[in-house]
Amino acid sequence: MTTESGKIREQDVRGQHTGMQKPRIDGTLKLTGGADYAVDRNLPNQTYGYPVTSTIARGRLKSLELDEALAMPGVLDIFHHDNFDSLSRSPNSFAEQNLTSEPRLPFEDNEIAYHGQYIAFVVADTFNHARAAAMKVTANYERDDGAITDIKALDSGEGELPGEVQEGDASSRGDPDSTLEAASVKLDQRYSIAQECHAVMEMHASLANWEGDALTIYESSQGVVFQRNALSKIFAMPPEKVTVISHFIGSGFGSKLFMWPHAIMTAVASRRLGRPVKTMLPRSQEFTATGYRPTSLQRVRLGADDSGKLLSIHHDGCNESSPTGKHDDTVSGSTPKMYACDHVAVTNRLVTVNKCPPCPMRAPGEASGSFALETALDELAVQLDMDPLELRKKNFAETDPADGLPWSSNHLIECWDSAAKRFGWDKRQSTPGAMRDGDELIGYGMATQSWEAMRLSSSARVGFRADGSLLVACGTQDIGTGTYTIVAQTASELTGIPIEMIDVQLGDSSLPTGPLSGGSFATATVLPAVAAAVKEALGQLTELATAEGAPFAGVETDTIGLENGELVSGHRRLAVTELLAHNRLGLVDAEASAGPGDEQGQYSFRSFGAVFVEVRWDPEISRLRLARVVSTIDIGRAINPLTARNQVEGGIVMGLGMGLFEQAEFDHSGYPYNANLADYILPVNADIPEIDVELLDYPDYRLNEFGARGVGEIGLTGVAAAISNAVYNATGKRIRDMPISIEKML
Ligand code: MOS
Repeated sequence: MTTESGKIREQDVRGQHTGMQKPRIDGTLKLTGGADYAVDRNLPNQTYGYPVTSTIARGRLKSLELDEALAMPGVLDIFHHDNFDSLSRSPNSFAEQNLTSEPRLPFEDNEIAYHGQYIAFVVADTFNHARAAAMKVTANYERDDGAITDIKALDSGEGELPGEVQEGDASSRGDPDSTLEAASVKLDQRYSIAQECHAVMEMHASLANWEGDALTIYESSQGVVFQRNALSKIFAMPPEKVTVISHFIGSGFGSKLFMWPHAIMTAVASRRLGRPVKTMLPRSQEFTATGYRPTSLQRVRLGADDSGKLLSIHHDGCNESSPTGKHDDTVSGSTPKMYACDHVAVTNRLVTVNKCPPCPMRAPGEASGSFALETALDELAVQLDMDPLELRKKNFAETDPADGLPWSSNHLIECWDSAAKRFGWDKRQSTPGAMRDGDELIGYGMATQSWEAMRLSSSARVGFRADGSLLVACGTQDIGTGTYTIVAQTASELTGIPIEMIDVQLGDSSLPTGPLSGGSFATATVLPAVAAAVKEALGQLTELATAEGAPFAGVETDTIGLENGELVSGHRRLAVTELLAHNRLGLVDAEASAGPGDEQGQYSFRSFGAVFVEVRWDPEISRLRLARVVSTIDIGRAINPLTARNQVEGGIVMGLGMGLFEQAEFDHSGYPYNANLADYILPVNADIPEIDVELLDYPDYRLNEFGARGVGEIGLTGVAAAISNAVYNATGKRIRDMPISIEKML
């Protein structure tokens, strides 16, 4: 077996199943078209929905002209403010698991808050009929001039950032102001990152179907339980009457965590028409109606002594948000935990702009915040004439500097050293432009990577079947990261039943409640629940096996374990299939839950890594490219190093996008003019160099019995900073506004 980066190291192969390179068990289904993505599913008598969107960014909708559209072939109905159902807003609570992305309901009022806002919803007998009719709907607006889409224009460039500090979004320790004042070495710089689109492969899609008073909705979702709960509040129905199904997802990156309005419109239309309705958003609406990583402005001030010891850190952040839904990206949120420093102050502000609500996008906050902090550290290293890696090592935090707690496990120093060695950092010349290869200037840059390691609560069900197979079910979902595979690996390891005999069921809200696929917490959350359910089921099997006259009668129950699909006690063995047959049972199943415990107050759980990059700038032809990446990451135990490495590689590619390419753009009227994959520039294969990912293997058993901390987001952090630091090393140009598009190099 080979991986994308072509390397397998000895250390990757451990355990029987977990910790083992294992291709996705759903890979064949996906490659052969057998995977039922939401949009692939069709129901009898199905109809198609297509949204009509606002063409102004701010103002009021006065009226719609619908006659022509209603007369188009196949049109069944058009829904809008004057004829839409009355609904209730979801309470929109993360804790109650009913958060939505845009709290305002579709067509709730006639205020236009952004270009691309839904103003009507056409339903027809075919997709093409619905789309053609949607194009014929015209709207009369009362336009407000003064739509705001550019927060950079609101920034004076000095002093405080624009916007309002949100409640709970300012924290400090020590006396950062006077410490900075007195420091012998100081830095005060501003940074910005352009708005990024999630650019998911599979567009957002819903297929809604009512049977009596019960709603089933097939959705491309990172959170079937959240969506089920939100729909149940919005339609005032008991949660048991709503089922959300998301068996396969063609990526989400955060844009599918919390339901968007298209799903609500689809469900209402289906109820009204008494027929299934399918909606798949066109690519353009992926840019205007399903969230994005908000544009951020940041200011970082550092105070240090002459040896490079950090004395103070100020990190102020600001992100754009929407009139119809707040999203606080907290770009400075992790800064207090990154380096040993006694005097630290961080804030985050929001500025309301005329766009749809932003939302989490892979490594939300940290991807943006690490760009500013890790670039500022590089600038400080230049001021100090110090190696940027040495500067970071000098400020390594032995314990969590924000709360004083010990790290559960921290191997950042090894990440720095190992990545530096693999990369050849010792060959770096610190003078900009000193490294050349023919026409190309070469630059090296590095940054620290980090992501909080969270664990939430989850339930799971495990069932031993008479045919020897094992059912494992959890109401989480696999967004393409490999959740099906690691659940199967884990269940196989716990029971000794071969992976091929494990039937993993995910992506259905009627299964035992599982977590969002987000925050890099699904692995650490779900696997312990699977283990608890196996234990519970083993208890039932034990009871059957030790009953009077049964094969294990008289055996001490706590000596009985599971191996190879058999109950084992000492030298005695009993196949589970035999036990089920003996009892004429088709299935023995159990449900159990597991969640975080006391460890949460005792340790600080965080993953760290280091990324080193080489860039090459050819001034003759104005070509800037990323030539090499090395990343060493400590995520505790990688349950499946193959899929884990894929996650880091994918994160690095998104970091490349942030660093060199991605920016969603709007004109002065708020019109999104590159809302398509031709004009919104993303890294493609030709832009992506070899990515050397090394996963350290230090299981973090304080977080869970599998030692796994999760891996979805960390790969993206630090990458844009490493690129911009390398560009400085190559050219002496310090670019503080991402992406580094070519015109900034001229
Ligand atoms: Mo991730 S932004 O939690 O999908």
